[in-house]
Amino acid sequence: MSHRVDNFCSGPAALPTAVLEKAQAELLDWQGMGVSVMELSHRSQEFQAVCDTAEKNLRDLLGIPVNYRVLFLQGGATLQFSAIPLNLASAGQVADYIDTGIWSRKALAEGKRYCAARVAASADASGYTSVPPESQWQLSDKAAYVHITPNETIGGVEFDWIPETGDVPLVADLSSTILSRPLDVSRFGLIYAGAQKNIGPSGLTVVIVREDLLDRAQEVTPTLLSYRTQADNGSMYNTPPTLAIYLAGLVFEWLREQGGLSAMAEINRRKAARLYAYIDESDFYNNPIEVSSRSWMNIPFTLADDQLNGRFLNEAEESGLLNLQGHRSVGGMRASIYNAISEDAVGRLIGFMDEFARQVR
Ligand SMILES: Cc1ncc(COP(=O)(O)O)c(C=O)c1O
Repeated sequence: MSHRVDNFCSGPAALPTAVLEKAQAELLDWQGMGVSVMELSHRSQEFQAVCDTAEKNLRDLLGIPVNYRVLFLQGGATLQFSAIPLNLASAGQVADYIDTGIWSRKALAEGKRYCAARVAASADASGYTSVPPESQWQLSDKAAYVHITPNETIGGVEFDWIPETGDVPLVADLSSTILSRPLDVSRFGLIYAGAQKNIGPSGLTVVIVREDLLDRAQEVTPTLLSYRTQADNGSMYNTPPTLAIYLAGLVFEWLREQGGLSAMAEINRRKAARLYAYIDESDFYNNPIEVSSRSWMNIPFTLADDQLNGRFLNEAEESGLLNLQGHRSVGGMRASIYNAISEDAVGRLIGFMDEFARQVR
């Protein structure tokens, strides 16, 4: 057995060991074909089957309704910040963005290049420690869409509800929370997610889009960014990220073996509850986020004394707990506890934190 540490990286994040072992076992000779899966033509029947199975499993896991298309794209969630306004809004049309942190503001800034993107509500007033309640949102009448970031990976702020936007399509950047629990896809017009947290390796971006939104693109939309083009070509208008799709497919199979998203939700809820409970009862660690807006996946925390950050990280690493440094824009620590992080790993983190706090007193 190879040595595996507990990797709390926010992304690219830990993948299930069982998935990596399967990929390793069939790397040189995929399904008796004598080639690796990444040496297959994307136009081959065999690779098409990989895509079809991955899509089917994703559809089953999330209960994706038939009138939604699943696209396997490239360019990360960041390219979707441009693709969304280009595909869904006409130039000059208003689009409403809910500002809950760094990622929603990045989406907004890019949206402004292609339509009249505006902030309809902001977490600014709370110092980005809570999602602004829907009663305070100032939505436009004729917005092309409402954009939300249900989980802010850096700030650790998360929606605990799905907003109601009537006829205006709700668009959500689910990069850091997709597949962590069941989701009512029918409430959204479009969902997008970079793969490198809960789906698979980086290089793949999943878009789930309602069919009636495929034909609203601006004339200038680059062909490759057009959802219609990608939907009509089975996400293969050009060469897709074949290895990443294959690995994502293995993750979807693994999730089904774990009992699907209800089972994952139970585990994820317990993991987060344990870590927050420990932080809250400690007078050495602190998490500033309002309880109802706390992320299940990304848990930032500070130490009572910032001077101890370096020592904390070094000792954590010596204990096999990696990548706990907070994002450079906010400092402090952050534990990302996506699906591949077990309850035991969270227990080991808490054990280390407790021991560290005791030692430095
Ligand atoms: C919520 C969120 N949106 C967007 C991004 C950017 O994703 P990518 O690097 O795939 O473009 C990230 C990356 O961490 C993220 O966490």
